[in-house]
Parts: sequence; structure tokens; C-alpha cells
Amino acid sequence: MNIAIIGSGYVGLVTGVCLAHIGHHVICIDNDPEKIKKLNAGKVPIYEPGLEDLIRKYRRMKRLVFSGSIAGAVKKSEVIFIAVGTPSKQNGDADLTYIENVAREIARHMDSYKLLVEKSTVPAQTGNRIERTVRLNLPAKYRKDGARPFAFDVASNPEFLREGSAIEDFMNPDRIVIGVESSRAEKLLREVYKPLKARVVVTNLASAEMIKHASNSFLAAKISFINAVAQVCDRVGADVEKVAEGMGYDKRIGRAFLNAGIGYGGSCFPKDVDAFIRLAEKSGYDFRLLKSVRDVNEQQKAAFIQLIEDKLWIIKDKTIAVWGLAFKANTDDMRRAASLDIIRSLRAEGARVQAYDPKAMVNARYELKDIKFCADAYAALKGADCLLVLTEWDEFLKVDLARARGLMRQAVVFDGRNFCDREAFTAGGFEYYGIGRGETVKTTTGAAACGKK
Ligand code: UGA
Repeated sequence: MNIAIIGSGYVGLVTGVCLAHIGHHVICIDNDPEKIKKLNAGKVPIYEPGLEDLIRKYRRMKRLVFSGSIAGAVKKSEVIFIAVGTPSKQNGDADLTYIENVAREIARHMDSYKLLVEKSTVPAQTGNRIERTVRLNLPAKYRKDGARPFAFDVASNPEFLREGSAIEDFMNPDRIVIGVESSRAEKLLREVYKPLKARVVVTNLASAEMIKHASNSFLAAKISFINAVAQVCDRVGADVEKVAEGMGYDKRIGRAFLNAGIGYGGSCFPKDVDAFIRLAEKSGYDFRLLKSVRDVNEQQKAAFIQLIEDKLWIIKDKTIAVWGLAFKANTDDMRRAASLDIIRSLRAEGARVQAYDPKAMVNARYELKDIKFCADAYAALKGADCLLVLTEWDEFLKVDLARARGLMRQAVVFDGRNFCDREAFTAGGFEYYGIGRGETVKTTTGAAACGKK
């Protein structure tokens, strides 16, 4: 099939490349000429495992084209995915300016049936607004007398890709959600995804949009739930890792997304939770549960900083090593990374920060002007009074702990992801503090239960 993707950001690029991979001819559009120039020169603006190789392959095979022209893409394609950004406004609402602009622009170039598919995460009922915008902006000759020589459809097809494993997620989806208002649209979208042989859930437009809101918010709630449990674990001497394991074997609960840590970040969960709270508010429902999810997420960073302050005593003029800056492993994405809030707060108290991340340092430099970026994990440890592990990169597991300890002034580690091997660090002479692991027991009962004095 001939498919256009409007917006070559994270979602658009991955979707475009993967659609080419399953046999379609794809035109990826972006309004940033620099980005298109780079992509056409084989340079990929984001880091995502496997992406660059696939882009190279399908460009060579001419199944994937990058262009700045919406007009050309609309003419050539029957199915048009909209994957432009929907950033948060100050009040938490999703800013849909780009969606509206693109809908209008697509309409201006339509001359035959088109299926417009929302891929960006949008508030429920955006599909209806896109439909109306297109209808009102069709070329004048098609608006005359209300008689139209062709129809068009709008559908919702939310994405559930995770950064760092996006290609794998696309190829092996748990489900594909298709929100449609006509059988023609359903048939076309089924055709698009046929090669994947995946489970397809067909709903109306609004339900598909809600599935996306509800899925991301539920996952965020799962993380905040385990983070809240971790807080109590620390107070009673329990180990949240064991608690999550014990809970996770229950099929109704599942172990995934029960990793306690410094809170969720990234371009999706914080923004999507805010947007869902706002959507509910506007519809007359106070989604208090979700507000608590957000609060717990913020508290989690504050509690981590408090732990550091408690154990490090004076923060001013201390040297703090940081391993990992990205909002999660296997990505160079720094958007809403928990590391930003934590580092800024420690800097504000006068700490010196020296950090290393395998992929995110280029992006981190835009955000963090006054810290030292180091060439590798060891360099970050030189003369440090403690180490913070803020992203769970595999390469940190391979570090020689004796060498690491020798480089530091004080062998103290705060593992913000419960990722490091606690036993190995302790045996290596480190003071180790995780999240909800029971090391910071605050009550006598808890201490006794944990076997600690
Ligand atoms: C998330 C969803 O998982 C995807 O399904 C969705 O398509 C995507 O948002 C989106 O809406 O575009 P992503 O933001 O790439 O994907 O990353 P996740 O793996 O979900 O992680 C989000 C944040 O939660 C990260 O900061 C991660 O470190 C944190 N997290 C995740 C935890 O703190 N604990 C966990 O157990 C899992």
C-alpha cells in the first residue's frame, strides 16, 4: 500500500520504517527541512536500537522516502498517518495546534478518498475535530453544493511502542487498536497490519482514543503504586523487589511495570497523565486517583534527594557522580527525565556533579549547563563522594567494582533504579542504598524484621 506519515519525530519515524519493513511504500513527511536533509543523507536524528539499519535498507529499496511536501504525499497515498507532536500546555491540556494545522493542510490537497489515521496521542474526541476540520477545508471546488465526488474517513490507531524497544514492539504487538466509523476504514487498516498477524481490537473512534489514555495512565499508576509501596517498605524493613516478585506471579497483577525507582519520566507518561486528568476535569469528573499517581511520582524524586541528603550529610561542595541521564535505558531521550530534577536540586544546594550516559549526553548538554560530562563510567567516579545510578544501562553492570571504589573518595552508592547488584556492591565495600530495599529502616519493628540493628 502507499502510505504517508506526517511528522517524522519518534513515533512517525518508527512507524514509517516498520510499515516499510512489512511491505508498504512509505513517505515520511516533516516540516523541518534540516531533519529531512539529514534523513535523506542517511543520518538518523534519534537513537533507537535497530532503527538506522532499517532506514538505510528501505531507503535503498526505495520503499521509504523522506520529504517536506505534504501535497505530494497526500496525492500519492490512500492512508495518511498523523504523527505530529502534541506537547503539554501550561495547564496540562494537550496542545493540538500541529494536529489542526496538518489536518487543514491535508484537506487542501485532497482529490480522492483518503483515510486519515491519528497516531499521535490525542484527547478523546480529537478524531471528530479532525473530521470537521478536513470537511471545512477541502478545496473550494469540492465544497460547492455540498455534493462531494469522494469521501474520506478519520480513524484512530494509537501506538503502544516503548522507546528503546520500539521496533520489536511494533513487530510483536500485544494488540492493534483500530478506532473507526466506517467499514471501509476498518478494511483498509486491517490491510495495513495484515502482515503482522496480530490481534486486532476494533472500536469506534472515541473508544480507541480512550484505550490509549487508559493504558498509559494505568501503567503510570502501576509504577506509582509500587513506588508508594517502596516508601512503606523502607519504613518497615521490607524489600520492594521481593514484594514485586511475590505480587507479580499473580496473573491478575503481573510483574511488568512494578519496578520501583525515581519515578516515571519521558515524553509520554507525565504528559499523558496530565492530559487525561484535564480531559476528565473538562468532562466534569475529578480523577483524583490519577492526581495521586502524579503526586506520588513527584514525591519519589523528592524522597530520593532526601535520602542522599540524609546519608551524605552536607551537600555543598560534595562531588556527586551520576551514571545514567536518559529517562530510561536504550534511548538518548532526555524529555522529562527524572535525572534532570534530581541533578538540578543537588546543584542548587552546591554539589558538583560529574555525569556519564552512554547515549544521552548530547541531548543532556542542552538541559544541564553546569555539570561535568565524563567520557566513561569510571571517569565520572573520580574523587566522588557518592554515586547515583539514575538510568538502568546494562554497561553499568560490567563495571569493575574494585577499580570503581579506588577512584571514589567515599564508596557510597544510591541506586535510583534498584538495578545494581546490591550484594556485589556491599561485598565490594560500598555503602549501598536502593529504593524501598529496607536499608533506610526508620522504625525499630522494621529494623528487627529486616535483621538490622
Ligand atoms: C510508554 C508506554 O510504555 C508505551 O506503551 C507507549 O506507546 C508510549 O509510552 C507512548 O505513549 O508513546 P515509553 O515512555 O517509551 O513508553 O517508556 P516506558 O518503558 O513505558 O517507561 C516510561 C517511564 O517509566 C520511564 O521513565 C521508566 O524508567 C519508568 N518505569 C517503567 C518505571 O519507573 N518502572 C517500571 O516498572 C517501568
